[in-house]
Amino acid sequence: MTTLSKEKIIESIRVVKDPDLQRDIVSLGMVKEVEIEGGKVSVHVELTTPACPLKDKIKQDVQNVVSALEGVKEVAVQMTSQVRRGPSLLLQQGTPSGIKNVIAVASGKGGVGKSTVCVNLAVALAQTGASVGLLDGDIYGPNVPLMLGIPAGSKPGVSSNEKMIPLQAYGLKVISMGLLVPPDAPMIWRGPMLHSAVTQFLQKVDWGELDYLLVDLPPGTGDVQLSLVQTVSVTGAVIVTTPQEVALMDVRKGIAMFQKTNVPILGIVENMSSFICPHCNKETAIFSQGGGRETSEKLKVPYLGDIPIDPRVREGGDQGKPIVTSYPDSPAAKQFTAVAGTLAQQVSIVDILGGNR
Ligand SMILES: Nc1ncnc2c1ncn2[C@@H]1O[C@H](COP(=O)(O)OP(=O)(O)OP(=O)(O)O)[C@@H](O)[C@H]1O
Ligand SMILES: [Mg+2]
Repeated sequence: MTTLSKEKIIESIRVVKDPDLQRDIVSLGMVKEVEIEGGKVSVHVELTTPACPLKDKIKQDVQNVVSALEGVKEVAVQMTSQVRRGPSLLLQQGTPSGIKNVIAVASGKGGVGKSTVCVNLAVALAQTGASVGLLDGDIYGPNVPLMLGIPAGSKPGVSSNEKMIPLQAYGLKVISMGLLVPPDAPMIWRGPMLHSAVTQFLQKVDWGELDYLLVDLPPGTGDVQLSLVQTVSVTGAVIVTTPQEVALMDVRKGIAMFQKTNVPILGIVENMSSFICPHCNKETAIFSQGGGRETSEKLKVPYLGDIPIDPRVREGGDQGKPIVTSYPDSPAAKQFTAVAGTLAQQVSIVDILGGNR
């Protein structure tokens, strides 16, 4: 009889692959600890995000291979996660050291539901246990506070090191021009407020430790977008679109801008993709459908998924109750959660493999 050893167990786990990273979880450094007590084996696996949709599959795969080893009577697999800080954020200055990933949410065209998608993705990521911040980068039309039900007149405090303290909503840390202007914005904010305000928000806010900071950018490819990606390091960008051809044309412009500035594209989200009747469940493609996926294939960028049209999405925005919290079982909320998981995977790919630059 061969004796059981840690090495043998780790060797057996090498067949378990992370399908996104396309490498085995041992060489990815995800197997943290193996303990043997008689025939009882415990394995600690650390994933790169708590939002990983493959968590259960990876756990089961480890369970299966270790159980099959001679001498093993019982296997306990402990799954934890630790979001990593990607190479782009490690190498460059400009992003506070507690922030592991900055995700810019952009759209070529206005009114495609970018803020709605940004808010729901942020809450969905926080629901998985990740620490998440939301920076409302829409300086002239900030509506994130309303969408998150932050009471009018709420003001961020100022910390002892002269940084702003973000507000809290649904487990998110939030900052927005809507919380500052006018009339009594703190002095430190008045001067730098308008020029490169998003960069200031990133650097002069006491964000603390964050796995993901989502930035809701104003629509288009103007100065705010450029100053953000040029002065700080961004992990990557999410492009929100609707299925209409006009919106898709603008997607190409948005993608070109990010690629020119070496920002990886984390993927495209198609919002208002179809209407699912709440009464009969029949699906109608009001604005046609599938253009987001086709565009992503054509431009060779990841496709993160689609979100249906649902009046409850809009109501949630108007009432400050994101649909992922108020109707978590609705098709739209489930899609937001799925897109958040796929997004977190794409972030891990950029952090570990360097992304699709
Ligand atoms: N999937 C959806 N189903 C129903 N309504 C939606 C959906 N997505 C967004 N909306 C609604 O569409 C409107 C526009 O959305 P939103 O403000 O998020 O767009 P935006 O792209 O951020 O706009 P802007 O370009 O002005 O910043 C809002 O009333 C919002 O509630
Ligand atoms: Mg918006």
